Amino acid sequence: MPKITIIGAGAVGATAAQRIAEKELGDVVLTDIVEGLPQGKALDLMESGPLFGYDSKVTGTNDYKDIEGSDVVVITAGIARKPGMTREDLLKINTKIITDVSNNIKRYAPGSVVITVTNPLDIMTYVTLKTTGFEPGHVFGMSGVLDSGRFATFIAMELGCSVRDINAMVLGGHGDTMVPMPRFTTVTGVPITELMSQSTIDRLVERTVNGGAEIVNLLKTGSAFYAPSAAVTNMVEAVVKDTKRILPVCAYLNGEYGRKDIYLGVPVKIGRRGVEEIVELKLTKEEEKALGKSADAVKSGIASLNI
Ligand code: APR
Repeated sequence: MPKITIIGAGAVGATAAQRIAEKELGDVVLTDIVEGLPQGKALDLMESGPLFGYDSKVTGTNDYKDIEGSDVVVITAGIARKPGMTREDLLKINTKIITDVSNNIKRYAPGSVVITVTNPLDIMTYVTLKTTGFEPGHVFGMSGVLDSGRFATFIAMELGCSVRDINAMVLGGHGDTMVPMPRFTTVTGVPITELMSQSTIDRLVERTVNGGAEIVNLLKTGSAFYAPSAAVTNMVEAVVKDTKRILPVCAYLNGEYGRKDIYLGVPVKIGRRGVEEIVELKLTKEEEKALGKSADAVKSGIASLNI
C-alpha cells in the first residue's frame, strides 16, 4: 500500500483522508499541530473501515517522524483569512507554517511527491519548493482540478446534462485572476462555445471565479472542503496509480508559457514522478493576456516574500 501523509487534519485534510481511505488509495497518516485532533479523526476513520469495507489504515500523529517513507504528502496546514486580516497578514502567517511543514517533509520524507493545498496557493507552493529543495516536478499545487470541477458543475446545471460528459479546463492562478478556458472545455468533445451563448459562458465563468467566495458567503464560518478534498483525492490517485492523467495543476514553470521561476495553473501529465510533463497549449491573444495578468499577480506575491 502506498503511504499517503496529510498535514493539517482540519476540514480539507480530514475529508481528503476519508476519501482516500474509502478509495483504498493507500494507508493514510494524518498529522496536525493540535494534540489529539489527528489521532481522534484517524481512529474515527479506522472505525468506518469495517462499515464501508476498506482496509486502508488511517493513523493520527503530532510527530513528523511518523511521516517517514511517505510516497505522497499533502499539505493542508494553515489558517484561513479571518475578519480584519489582510491578504498580506495571511500570507505572512501561512508562509511561516508552510516553511516549518516543508522543512519537516525535507527531513523525514525526502523521496515524496508533495501536493500543496494551503492558500494563497500559488505562492505557498513556491514556498514549499524553495524550502524542500525538491525537484520541481515533485512539488505542485491543487487549484485547477477544483476550479474545473466547479466550472463543470455550473455547465452541467445550465445544460441539464451529466457532469460525467464534461471536461473543463481552468488555468492561471488560484484566485480572482484564474482563467477558465471555454475553448478547451467540452461536453463529450464538443466545445461549450458551440453549445452556449457568449453571455451564458461569461456568467458561468464569473461564477467559477467566485466559486470559493460563494461557499464562504453561504457557510459564514468556514470555507469549502468537500470539492477541495475531492480534487486532492483525484490528484493523489493519479500519482499513486501512475495514471498519466492530464490535469490542470499549479506547476513550476521554467520557460514554459514564456514564464520562469513561477508557479501557475497549467495542464500537466501526472504520474508516479509527480508532474511528468507540462502541456503547452497554443493560446489566443486574449487568453494569453488573461494568463499574463494571473502570472503577474502571482509574481508580485512571490516578490513580497523576499526569498
Ligand atoms: N502544522 C500542522 N498543522 C497545522 C499547523 C502547523 N504548523 N498550523 C495549523 N495547522 C492545522 C490546524 O490545526 C488545522 O487543523 O491546519 C488545519 C487547517 O484546517 P482548517 O482550519 O479546517 O482549514 P481547511 O478548511 O482544512 O483549509 C486548509 O486549505 O483550501 C485551503 O484555504 C484553505 O489554506 C486553507 C487550507
